[in-house]
Amino acid sequence: MKVKLAETAGFCAGVKRAMDLVLRSAQENVPGRLFTWGPLIHNPQVVDFLASRRIFVAEDFEDLSPGDAVVTRSHGIPPEVRDRLKEMELSVCDATCPKVARVQAIVRKHARDGYRVLIFGDEGHAEVNALLAFAEGAGEVIASEDELENAVGDGKVCLVAQTTKNPDQFEAISERLRNLPNDSIIIDTICDATYNRQREILRIAKDVDALVVVGGRNSGNTRRLFELAEETGKPAFWVETADELVPEDFEGLDTVGVTAGASTPHWITSRVVEKLELMGEGFSLRKIPYIKTIAYGFVQANFYAAGAGAMLLILAARLLGLPNIMPLHALVCFLFIFAIYTIRSSVDWQGLVLMDPSKIHFFESIRRFMLPAAFISLLCSLVLSAYIDIGLLLVLIFLAVGATGYLYGKRYILRGKSPFPVSRDVAETVLWTGITVIPVLFTRSGFDTVSLLVLLIVLFLSLVRTILNSLKDVESDRILMRDSIVLLLGERLSRTAGMFLLAVTAGLTGWLCLVRNLYSPLFLVIPLLMFFFHILHLSRMIKSSTIHEISIDFPFYVMGLFAVIGLI
Ligand code: F3S
Repeated sequence: MKVKLAETAGFCAGVKRAMDLVLRSAQENVPGRLFTWGPLIHNPQVVDFLASRRIFVAEDFEDLSPGDAVVTRSHGIPPEVRDRLKEMELSVCDATCPKVARVQAIVRKHARDGYRVLIFGDEGHAEVNALLAFAEGAGEVIASEDELENAVGDGKVCLVAQTTKNPDQFEAISERLRNLPNDSIIIDTICDATYNRQREILRIAKDVDALVVVGGRNSGNTRRLFELAEETGKPAFWVETADELVPEDFEGLDTVGVTAGASTPHWITSRVVEKLELMGEGFSLRKIPYIKTIAYGFVQANFYAAGAGAMLLILAARLLGLPNIMPLHALVCFLFIFAIYTIRSSVDWQGLVLMDPSKIHFFESIRRFMLPAAFISLLCSLVLSAYIDIGLLLVLIFLAVGATGYLYGKRYILRGKSPFPVSRDVAETVLWTGITVIPVLFTRSGFDTVSLLVLLIVLFLSLVRTILNSLKDVESDRILMRDSIVLLLGERLSRTAGMFLLAVTAGLTGWLCLVRNLYSPLFLVIPLLMFFFHILHLSRMIKSSTIHEISIDFPFYVMGLFAVIGLI
């Protein structure tokens, strides 16, 4: 079945900002415990995970003690709650979305100017409760236009909306208010992210046979999306996770549209998309029994990344002008990457628990084979490297100690804190550069311009690979509180940096070709392919995270293959 994924699906800027603030607070030395005032996002696994990292949910003042720190949610909190938290000698970090804060300011100003403030919103919702408090007794919630006349009274009226309400319903209420004799001010406070999300589901509905909305049952903006989906007349389904999809519901359908609420992590939406793609009519290679499981296992068991590393080594050998493809060196590289990545996956088990709990049983069943296989691979790679060159053995030992020492430090000594900013991504880039280029540099006598250019090309390619992986995992990294380049620089700057590095790599490759009198445009395939896949992902044409992962390393396979068959 074909799936159309909404471009606006997933975290909005306000939710991302709140998460970043929680992440930052967690990295500071809080004397007491760290709380969020209410659940940060509507996802039980994420809330449980945060609790395991000592970030708890406070529902009441009794949950808190002096010295604790509290981060508010993007919905905002009433001023008296903030005052009480401060009186309790708690450190308070305000993560109210700036757009919600703007509505609070509007409400307070008009209430103080003598207006009766009508709030079109959901009674009891955290954002609406805070707005009512900012109205200082002059506010009233209305759920529909039918409630307008009773609420309006005789005096001046200011009408605002909860930021995630339906714009059409707000317009209908506004129109009715304009026809009343009151002195009224109408301020459309619905957030543009809400507008775009709701407009897009209506647009997508025209081209699909059914709609799926992904998000928490207690998420107001997800409910609104679902109501809109139902109003289109197409079959509409609201799911919290992929496990809730029922294949019979989609029998005979050709195309399904998918969107998600503002606090739905992208990996949950991605699993829904993957499951839907396997349903319905029509042939797909991935429907052949076990093909998808095998492909998924190949990627998740780190064979795919290890193969990509070996291919990059073969390419580096060609760039250096070495005559053969060096299978022994490639094997060392493959075994080493497989070993280190598998050990890393075993240490970083929480990521999988959080992001794809349905796969836990599969990995639990192969885990007892994978770890011994990883240690045997590590040993084999060390023995083979010693056979090639004793200096290479020392390099591998340095990389292995660096990689495992980093993991050990993260897991046990530093308790989740980074030794230095973006240490994970630096460790990853050094590992990839080291294992893919140093073995081939050992085969040359001396270090000349060609060696330097090849080292830089591989270094930049490894760095771009790290950035692309960080971009892919930005939401999970944010929640898992991993230190990543993207979380440090922001998504836009990281994308720009990635593009810039690809351009520099292309330039260095051209320079190398001039130095070596090579005139094959094929050497530019890697930066071009990486750029191409990055654009595909940006435009949401790559919807599944497994396919995205495959696409990041695919250019290395293409170039490695060119080298193996003698095209370059
Ligand atoms: Fe803010 Fe709009 Fe999200 S108001 S919290 S960016 S839905």
